[in-house]
Amino acid sequence: KKYAFGMIGLGTMGRNLLLNMGDHGFAGAGFDKDASKGALLEQEDKNKNLKGFSEVEPFIASLSTPRAIMMLVPAGKIVDDVIAELLPYLDKGDILIDGGNSHFTDTNRRVEELESQGFHFFGMGVSGGADGARRGPSIMPGGDKAAYNVMKPILEAIAAKAEDGEPCVTYIGPGAAGHFVKMVHNGIEYGLMQLIAESYEIMKKGLKMDNDAIQKVFAKWNDGRLQCFLLDITKDIFLFKAPGTDHLLIDDIKDEARAKGTGKWTSQVAMDLQAPIPTVDTAVAMRDLSKYKQLRVQASELYSDVPVINVDDKEQFLAELEQAFYFTMIISYAQGMHLLTNASAEYKYDLKLAEIAKIWRAGCIIRSKFLYDIYNAYTKDSGLAHLLLDGGVQKLVNEVVPGTRSVLSKTIAAGIAAPAFTASLSYFDAFRSARMPSNLTQAQRDFFGAHTYELIGKEGVFHTEWMAKTNN
Ligand code: 6PG
Repeated sequence: KKYAFGMIGLGTMGRNLLLNMGDHGFAGAGFDKDASKGALLEQEDKNKNLKGFSEVEPFIASLSTPRAIMMLVPAGKIVDDVIAELLPYLDKGDILIDGGNSHFTDTNRRVEELESQGFHFFGMGVSGGADGARRGPSIMPGGDKAAYNVMKPILEAIAAKAEDGEPCVTYIGPGAAGHFVKMVHNGIEYGLMQLIAESYEIMKKGLKMDNDAIQKVFAKWNDGRLQCFLLDITKDIFLFKAPGTDHLLIDDIKDEARAKGTGKWTSQVAMDLQAPIPTVDTAVAMRDLSKYKQLRVQASELYSDVPVINVDDKEQFLAELEQAFYFTMIISYAQGMHLLTNASAEYKYDLKLAEIAKIWRAGCIIRSKFLYDIYNAYTKDSGLAHLLLDGGVQKLVNEVVPGTRSVLSKTIAAGIAAPAFTASLSYFDAFRSARMPSNLTQAQRDFFGAHTYELIGKEGVFHTEWMAKTNN
């Protein structure tokens, strides 16, 4: 028997993706050096479509050609090691897929190395965690278009389906485009998670609400226009008891956030491409700040305690907080899409932003109701330079800006940190400024460094001997 698809790495993600293929009638072979993982795969495979291997040679021999083999192993050196181990067994035309969260520059290098030897290499973003892999993830494949068509039927079958039945997978673009788009997805994920964390902080510290009341707010938000996977899981987190106790597990968890790097990479690349995404930057910075527990404890003793937010009407305040979340959620996506626009031009990815919004509507971590609005905006105008310039989005934003200002000014006055909320609002206020104060920055640069400046309505660059002028 020949298998249509091979999977290397039968950890939870790899195993679940293969089981998903098996459910759709595809015959798949899985490889893991740990033979117990292959055994587990076969045991969980109710359809008897899958087989586990712990030796490379028979695994490769079991695959139909051209072979399509996906690696789901931790990003970094392990990916290179697996490729080196596989290469001697592969034939020209075979397709190798990296389904992990690899840095797109590593993917670029691998594409070059492997394509030059006659193989196809795919950097493929897979979002949705273990559950998504099992029941339908959002899939972002980048690489050679002809090779994509070989895998298309399998990927479309296993991908999540949006409400309209459309599969959440599309050909993203050449080279590392798939991994790039997945990285930006994760950047947006960091931003939304930070905004939810800040909402929790405002309700907990500012309004002194208990977990039960906070749970109800998140659940209510998730029932409305804010509907998204991250709020959906958050409302459930606020129901989950610490095993064997009467209190919630969330209260026992250390307030130090970890990260595997995709958020940081998004910010780093955004700075390289000069596409500002301050909401994501702030989310990365706050995960880092959270790790300085000892310093924070010391500082908390030196600087006086956080006072309560003074609200006359709590319901009104919470309604405004919902508006602030909606507003900043829009800003988070807008920044991510702007980064994709810049990257598409710089790296010649030819990204179709409507298609990307479309495949993010289900399966992935940042799926939300609002993605339908993003999809509509880029469908109306595929060349839309910035999401905030879309007429539909403009209306949505205008409705919620006043509430956002109101709730954030009270939050700031009370001394509660809401850096992603405020960074998003300030980004918006700067973005909607026809004239920014950057003329002063230019004057300063020319003053101390003779870096020159440009003048309104006059061609060329200019320099002034500023010292002489101010000495007059
Ligand atoms: C997804 C997630 C997934 C992973 C994150 C976690 O789309 O399914 O983004 O890829 O859970 O990379 O990232 P951190 O460990 O950096 O929070």
